[in-house]
Amino acid sequence: MDRYAVIGNPIAHSKSPWIHAAFARQTGQALHYEALLGPLDGFAASVHAFRAAGGRGMNVTVPFKLEAYALADRRTPRAEAAGAVNTLAFDEAGILGDNTDGAGLVRDLSANLGCAPAGRRILLLGAGGATRGALLPLLDSRPAALTIANRTVSKARELAGRFAGHAAGVPLDACTFNELAGERFDLIINATAASLAGELPPLPPGVYAEGALAYDMMYGRGDTPFMRAAHADGAMRVADGLGMLVEQAAESFALWRGLRPDSAPVLAALRRLID
Ligand code: ATR
Repeated sequence: MDRYAVIGNPIAHSKSPWIHAAFARQTGQALHYEALLGPLDGFAASVHAFRAAGGRGMNVTVPFKLEAYALADRRTPRAEAAGAVNTLAFDEAGILGDNTDGAGLVRDLSANLGCAPAGRRILLLGAGGATRGALLPLLDSRPAALTIANRTVSKARELAGRFAGHAAGVPLDACTFNELAGERFDLIINATAASLAGELPPLPPGVYAEGALAYDMMYGRGDTPFMRAAHADGAMRVADGLGMLVEQAAESFALWRGLRPDSAPVLAALRRLID
């Protein structure tokens, strides 16, 4: 049976084995998908051992996405743009590195939430790895404009400069949170690590346009602090990142198996499981 795994540290909490088992059942694919705890000083050795034992591909999570980028023999354009790899595929030619996180986000917005980025004014909060991973797929889906806001504004400017060449006519700029006062957005995506610490990116009031969606890449039981604050500040809809988790998995599954699972029932079942 074809073997796959997710590798991270820690890994016990990972929902990926559950999601991929559901995709395999649904599509009738015979595969085994497990969770591997990668030693902090032994990522590459763990990948090579899994591959040597017959592994066909891996998902990669915290803290190994940059090491996976370096380990890949060749990379997809979206992995190059993200500067990080969350999906490895093994074949005779070597190790292919891909990044399905941003595509998973765009697909969740478009297919599950009815909020395709095309034509919308988008605000991305944060300028770390999560933002970098989302930028190319978001720009490719032709928003009206995209603004990156970050506490450390130099990092937001650096990202805007790096992606200017990919923007293809989409206005792309960077600013501090304070500079957002008076601006309005149709879609605000929290890609900061603030929710992890139970904190909030300090948005000025009134940034949600009519009908706006507030999206937190984080998920857990119930609403995150960002979702609660967005609701209080007039966002019409709020969403967490559980759909992004399922959709990035579906992208990886499609890369490995050549067919796309129907993610909606899997997302609905996972939602019932964690709530
Ligand atoms: P990741 O890979 O998850 O994106 P990261 O690269 O460490 O993680 O980036 C974390 C992001 O969250 C950064 O944009 C960080 O802002 P700074 O660049 O100013 O550090 C942002 N962040 C973390 N905690 C935050 C908080 N309490 N409020 C606002 N932004 C926060």
